[in-house]
Amino acid sequence: MNHVPEIRRYRPADREAVARICLLTAAGGGDATGVYSDDTLMPEVFALPYVEYAPELAFVVADEERVLGYVLGVADTADFIEWWKREWTPGFAARHPSVASPTAHDPAFTEADLVGAGLDPERMRIAELADYPAHLHIDLLPELQGMGFGRRLIDALRAALAARGVAAVHLGMDAANTGARAFYDRLGFHELPSSTPNAPLLGIATS
Ligand SMILES: CC(C)(COP(=O)(O)OP(=O)(O)OC[C@H]1O[C@@H](n2cnc3c(N)ncnc32)[C@H](O)[C@@H]1OP(=O)(O)O)[C@@H](O)C(=O)NCCC(=O)NCCS
Repeated sequence: MNHVPEIRRYRPADREAVARICLLTAAGGGDATGVYSDDTLMPEVFALPYVEYAPELAFVVADEERVLGYVLGVADTADFIEWWKREWTPGFAARHPSVASPTAHDPAFTEADLVGAGLDPERMRIAELADYPAHLHIDLLPELQGMGFGRRLIDALRAALAARGVAAVHLGMDAANTGARAFYDRLGFHELPSSTPNAPLLGIATS
């Protein structure tokens, strides 16, 4: 059996694995299991809407047995915001009708912040959207990190966006995730004007 991981397009059967990887990398790059009252919250905000809305812009790293990492993108964030309000918010609000009490983990990005993010797609309307209409999320399990797959996933998404005529892509990140910041800097991402030290906002051309 071939156990060498490869990059391929997302398939619907990858959905649960994507949700799991999101949870396992969501605490400043580390495992967020149990950090919030409900482990489904994080993927329902930062992964599943993406594969639902734009499965064609999701790429995974997988061997024959399992998925080990992904990059998820949307080409037109403004359109995604409208889709989210229409298609995602109602189900999310029904599944998470109230903000539960914080867990003992007491994260800086609180339970209320996370539920609020699920209900408020307008948070994605950055000032630079006209020039950087696309955005992305990338996460790899620890065993796959540092082997060049992150760079290759970003390359795959940038190429797919460029092929659709999208000139540039952005991302928001946790300021505490210094490893990810070093990765983005190395790949040539730059800070956008509305980036702040507490909420870094980075962008890059697609070609
Ligand atoms: C951040 C992440 C996507 C990077 O992917 P990766 O596959 O580990 O990175 P790569 O091996 O492709 O590295 C690409 C380049 O960035 C550099 N780099 C990557 N991580 C780095 C780090 N922590 N410190 C310094 N440089 C780093 C590499 O040295 C490499 O440089 P080179 O290509 O010139 O040799 C991955 O580590 C990850 O998923 N981390 C956990 C989840 C996370 O933090 N996601 C991002 C949330 S915003």
